[in-house]
Amino acid sequence: MGRLQGKIAVVTGAADGIGHAISEAMATEGAHVFAGDIDDRKGEALVAELKAKGLAADYVHCDVSAEADIRNLIQTAVDKGGRLDILVNNAAIAIGGMPVYEMTDDQWHRLIAVNLTSVFRGCKFALPHMIRQKGGAIINMASAQGHVGLDGWTAYAGAKGAVMSMTRQMAVEFGPHNVRINSISPGTIATPMNDKIVAEQGDHIARAWVKMHPIGRIGKTSEIAEAAVYLASDAAGFTTGIDLRVDGGLTAAPRFVPDLV
Ligand SMILES: NC(=O)c1ccc[n+]([C@@H]2O[C@H](COP(=O)([O-])OP(=O)(O)OC[C@H]3O[C@@H](n4cnc5c(N)ncnc54)[C@H](O)[C@@H]3O)[C@@H](O)[C@H]2O)c1
Repeated sequence: MGRLQGKIAVVTGAADGIGHAISEAMATEGAHVFAGDIDDRKGEALVAELKAKGLAADYVHCDVSAEADIRNLIQTAVDKGGRLDILVNNAAIAIGGMPVYEMTDDQWHRLIAVNLTSVFRGCKFALPHMIRQKGGAIINMASAQGHVGLDGWTAYAGAKGAVMSMTRQMAVEFGPHNVRINSISPGTIATPMNDKIVAEQGDHIARAWVKMHPIGRIGKTSEIAEAAVYLASDAAGFTTGIDLRVDGGLTAAPRFVPDLV
């Protein structure tokens, strides 16, 4: 029996990268995954792949910056699955790599809408179902960037810091309803998000990332998925309000980026 057997899970930003790995891992562990994304082609492909393996999954178009889309994603899961056990607020975008004085207001508002307001809305729509059921697990995707500084990422880091702070706050508030709320802070993980940053800024960034992680490499999406499965499972029944750093030691180490200086 899988560690998430029979559970109903919603994952945002599920079509690629970390969200894809989480959706696959949760479905493999027995959950019915409702995968939301803006990339319909990749989202449908993920669900087809999971169904071909005999796993339970549905794709729902969901732009996390649109309130109605998040409401619809969660309501679809509840209507089809009869309940909601797991919400993974994963979708985010990377706008950065520039000093704060070069960031436009439009870039700031876009980043906050996709990376932070989405988490507020996901929790807002999921919590009433979880409270009624007297149980549930929410996992918010934070980042090592919410713990340590890196030139050019002020807005992204601000959103991730707020995600962690809101996670703690809600864990305290909804613990009495047996709803557990935790975050994960990945280090640098091999995903399309980072491929795009390397394409824009150059290969030296990729070399510096390896050196920044004491473990000597960047992470795999499966390593974040494993952490998400654990936090969603009954094995983590006494764990709430934490930020789980899955970062190869990045935030334990003094800053060391020789290729950038
Ligand atoms: N990759 C890393 O190194 C890293 C490190 C720390 C934290 N994170 C966090 O992990 C999460 C996933 O990152 P990733 O690297 O897998 O990203 P990614 O860019 O590789 O994939 C993100 C997915 O989200 C989708 N998406 C983008 N905008 C969306 C929107 N408005 N609504 C719905 N879906 C949308 C994309 O289509 C894509 O499928 C993010 O919260 C990110 O901040 C990533």
